[in-house]
Amino acid sequence: MPTEIADNMAGRRQRLIIGGLLLFLLWNVATYMVFTRQAEQGSTQVESSQTMNERLNRLQEQMKDQMDINEQLIKDIIQQKEAILKGKKLVHVPAPPANENVDLAVHQDVSKSRPFKLEVAGKVTYPYSSYVIPVLMIACNRPSAIQRSLTNLLGTRPSPTQFPIIVSQDCGHQETAEAIQRFDDKVTHIKQPDLSSITLPSTQKKFEGYYKIARHYKWALNQVFHQFKYDAVIIVEDDLDVSVDFFEYFLATYPLLKEDPTLWCVSAWNDNGKESRISRDAELLYRSDFFPGLGWMMRKEIWQELENKWPDGFWDDWMRDPAQRQERACIRPEISRTDTFGKVGVSRGQFFEQHLKYIKLNQKSVAFTQLDLSLLKKDNYDPVFKKEVYGAPEVTISQLQKQDALGHPTVRITYNSKNSFKLLTKQLGIMTDLKSGVPRAGYMGVVSFMFDNHRVYLAPPTGWNGYDVSWS
Ligand code: UD1
Ligand code: MN
Repeated sequence: MPTEIADNMAGRRQRLIIGGLLLFLLWNVATYMVFTRQAEQGSTQVESSQTMNERLNRLQEQMKDQMDINEQLIKDIIQQKEAILKGKKLVHVPAPPANENVDLAVHQDVSKSRPFKLEVAGKVTYPYSSYVIPVLMIACNRPSAIQRSLTNLLGTRPSPTQFPIIVSQDCGHQETAEAIQRFDDKVTHIKQPDLSSITLPSTQKKFEGYYKIARHYKWALNQVFHQFKYDAVIIVEDDLDVSVDFFEYFLATYPLLKEDPTLWCVSAWNDNGKESRISRDAELLYRSDFFPGLGWMMRKEIWQELENKWPDGFWDDWMRDPAQRQERACIRPEISRTDTFGKVGVSRGQFFEQHLKYIKLNQKSVAFTQLDLSLLKKDNYDPVFKKEVYGAPEVTISQLQKQDALGHPTVRITYNSKNSFKLLTKQLGIMTDLKSGVPRAGYMGVVSFMFDNHRVYLAPPTGWNGYDVSWS
């Protein structure tokens, strides 16, 4: 290379680094200013010490997150600087390739073959029409929500005898009770009898709603399994819409749940199911180590295991603890089969505005009972999954963003630490949180989603051997 061009490039690189560092500095100054301004504004208002305390705690959390991200950014800049000095390509995370011989071109075929494609079922199929799976609808005090969700549920239900609907109502709200009664004998209306308030320490009082929900769930599930004596249940909440193939999906996955002891639920929900992060492949199903909830099925055996230790509050996060999950997985779809419209709820709509309202509800009906779902059983799935993920060429996030991965429909991005997971998920526009160390929608630490027409696997390095529960 002529020295002039080389000098020119070195100069550009240097400017790039300096530019990056400047941006980074600017960013820190901005964070500092936001921090001090918020503190000033706070001091001019008369606030109860409790609200002030909450705000400061939130701020502290945000600062901590930001510091983690800064730390990662510094590491990245140092890495990139070293890479430039060595004349290498930019790399985001220096993870060893899964297979030393990985060649981008060779692996194009892997992604074309649609490894998770479900075949049409052969002669051996299941006696689907003999299954009876009730739907348990959890309701409280939202008459218009229950009106909408029940209308929708009844409109897509293929058979009243196969899918009886039990509406369990908490909260003693008269208007809601009347709204449910208007559905007449199309649903069975039961009422949670204990409407007493729950005694909690003053710091926990604001979470009383979560305690009431947990109390209601326990009572209602006991009714389903012990009073009505069903073998399984599909649980929905009053602020969920369901897709056209909601019932078909649960009917077809029911035998899987019975036959594969490493599964403990089937869920209708993809936590990363925003339109821009999913493919149009409505048939695509996954195993997930993350319990998604939001329209989900479990069997009586699981309830019998949980009922005696059921928690007083925050039941869904409790399900995500290793003590309950016991390394079992749920089935979840690529495109969600439920959608929540519950802007006004116990968690006060914050999460709704930022995330939930963007989740796409599937519109195309898939005849799941005509397909062979046995690929989703652990023994069949795991080898295919590992091969698909670790056989995909590894790219950096900058390569992906700069379209350097064009021509490679499926790629893998590696995270090496909690911090790099947080940073990458933020940049990739997928959920950043982890519960008991498990990423939302993750399987074996891997999160699968779409990004600019690429199937992306955000994955730990090869040799992953379990979640680190301290990652949160
Ligand atoms: C969130 C979860 C929800 C979970 C709940 C408990 C999302 C979108 N939602 O609730 O799946 O069950 O946390 O951790 O992640 N309800 C009662 N009694 C009450 C209050 C509410 O039975 O006193 C019922 C509601 O009718 C509803 C359900 O509990 O069916 C959830 O309540 P909601 O107000 O929608 O709270 P979220 O914040 O969505
Ligand atoms: Mn809700």
